[in-house]
Amino acid sequence: MSEKNPQPVRAEVGVVLVAAGSGQRLGQGIPKARVLCGGRTLLEHSLESVVASGVAASVVVVLPAGDGVLSAVVDRAGRRAAGVGTVRITGVAGGATRAASVRAGLDALPPSAAVVLVHDAARALTPSSVFQRVVAAVLAGAPAVIPVLPVVDTVKVVTGDVVTATPDRAALRAVQTPQGFDARALRAAHASATASDLGVTDDAMLLEAQGATVHVVEGDALAFKVTTPLDLVIAEAVLAGRHAGTSAGTSPETSPAALPGISAGTPPEI
Ligand code: CTP
Ligand code: MG
Repeated sequence: MSEKNPQPVRAEVGVVLVAAGSGQRLGQGIPKARVLCGGRTLLEHSLESVVASGVAASVVVVLPAGDGVLSAVVDRAGRRAAGVGTVRITGVAGGATRAASVRAGLDALPPSAAVVLVHDAARALTPSSVFQRVVAAVLAGAPAVIPVLPVVDTVKVVTGDVVTATPDRAALRAVQTPQGFDARALRAAHASATASDLGVTDDAMLLEAQGATVHVVEGDALAFKVTTPLDLVIAEAVLAGRHAGTSAGTSPETSPAALPGISAGTPPEI
């Protein structure tokens, strides 16, 4: 799969930014998108990274129903973007599961969006390069594209309290967002998702169930998902590093020496 694309056709690309989760594991008692990091909400950081990537003509932000604070964030960002005529940003209420929230976002996207990126607002510091790699691969013809990183831990299959298998780590990848799709394929996959949404942890698995080929591109350590209190500490440190101009806030692409030899396709020897 070539990642080269002569000229991204931005008008075709819509982003569903899912931010309707409750943030149970972060444990702050407020929706995760509203949690402050470096003095701004996680939603503000993630919206900024989506807009800065320059890939999308429209962004639908999926919010917890009735959340006035987050609606105001979206309205402000929408007005600012409209002022410079770059991207159309709107909000919509989410559902009880991530998959339901994605469907709400898809329903609110303009039909002109032939390519859809689904992105977790919790991956608030995702670099532009990840968005651009994913979009380029979809525009080059892949129906589904996900950013991945090598797995650093050994992973076991456990039943009860007994290990039943150890998959070959070299074949495993940790999966991030944004995930990019041909819009029709993604809509069809969501429409025919049958079982409970609860086991649906990403959108690519719905396309896999339909027999679609899912391609991978290289992810980025900075696209990590803020899930636990430790992740929030790390995100704060990254932002502080950016502010101070240290390498803590840069991705491996901008500081190649930081993670020598690591790419999506070649897990490092550890
Ligand atoms: N999400 C959503 N609607 C839901 C559940 C999740 O839009 N009903 C979004 C979250 O806002 C987040 C992304 O999906 O940006 C990934 O979900 P996760 O990290 O699990 O966030 P939460 O569900 O908020 O966290 P937790 O599972 O700890 O409650
Ligand atoms: Mg969750």
